[in-house]
Amino acid sequence: MRVLGIESSCDETAAAVVVDGRRIASNVVASQSSLHAATGGIVPEVASRQHVRWIVPVVREALNQAGLTPAAIDIVAATRGPGLVGSLLVGLSAAKALAWGWQRPFCPMNHIAGHVYANWLGEELPEFPLICLVVSGGHTDLVAMRGHHDFRLVGRSRDDAAGEAFDKVARLLGLGYPGGPAVERAARDWLGPVPRLPRAWLPGSRDFSFSGLKTAVSRMVQAPDAPPSAAIAMAFQESVVDVLVEKTLEAADELGARCVLLAGGVAANGRLRARMTDSCGLPLFIPAMALCTDNAAMIAAATSYARDFDDSLAADAEPGLDLTTRVN
Ligand code: KG4
Ligand code: ZN
Repeated sequence: MRVLGIESSCDETAAAVVVDGRRIASNVVASQSSLHAATGGIVPEVASRQHVRWIVPVVREALNQAGLTPAAIDIVAATRGPGLVGSLLVGLSAAKALAWGWQRPFCPMNHIAGHVYANWLGEELPEFPLICLVVSGGHTDLVAMRGHHDFRLVGRSRDDAAGEAFDKVARLLGLGYPGGPAVERAARDWLGPVPRLPRAWLPGSRDFSFSGLKTAVSRMVQAPDAPPSAAIAMAFQESVVDVLVEKTLEAADELGARCVLLAGGVAANGRLRARMTDSCGLPLFIPAMALCTDNAAMIAAATSYARDFDDSLAADAEPGLDLTTRVN
């Protein structure tokens, strides 16, 4: 089965072809991040205009790189949410038009499900039941799965998402955009003493909270004897990683998971990858770096494992779409 996936929920215009849910035949991503660096963040209107400009060449390139004609595509899928509505609409409309024109089923996909399914594109396949920590710019979700597309939300951030915290702290430290990789680079270069920042453990809950940490960073930056920004970057990263690793492994243990998965843009963070690898006693899955941040191969992969999807062209963009309702 060959799935053409399209992703345009934020500031990446992406298209990919995945074969049988496992093999990436092509994975094309046109990133707008240098464009948004000028404004220090995404201007939604600018992002959607860029998607309009890039969507057709990116889809064409995905087919070219896969060496396939449209006739070889079995399903067309696209992200329907969550994301920026103007951005989502571009990829979704393009995918619907292609599905209609090629007379193929259309599958609207949840972006977060896509992130989770990036873990099915590696050498080994995850086994159920499992716990997946999804850490992106908009979400910090602990998801339990007992089967394909059976998502139970067992924990989430009560305020900022982990990636959002990285982005805000990068701005406070003057490290530029996008913030996550900038904080990681700054922290990597620091060899001096590391200042202490708080950790929000929220005892008795599987939820996360990062807004207090962000405030503590802001206070530290403004103090008269403020440590160098690289030292603060490292302290911040350690605090985030400590909580993410510990609470994920605790949940895996409590819920009897057979393996642990990481997903989302923050899963590209080297420190999180290393600490999780060191501490996890269960089989651990982390997508390849390029499959952590937004891409369309993950959307195609998630589609390949979706059984009874509604292939109606009526599916609309849903900026606030949840993966699932919360379960405790
Ligand atoms: O999954 P993603 O590409 O887009 C969303 O769905 O939000 O995640 C983007 C987020 C941004 O907040 C970015 O700063 C963060 O992932 N990120 C990182 C790293 N690379 C990307 N955070 C920490 N370290 C990184 N290396
Ligand atoms: Zn994402």
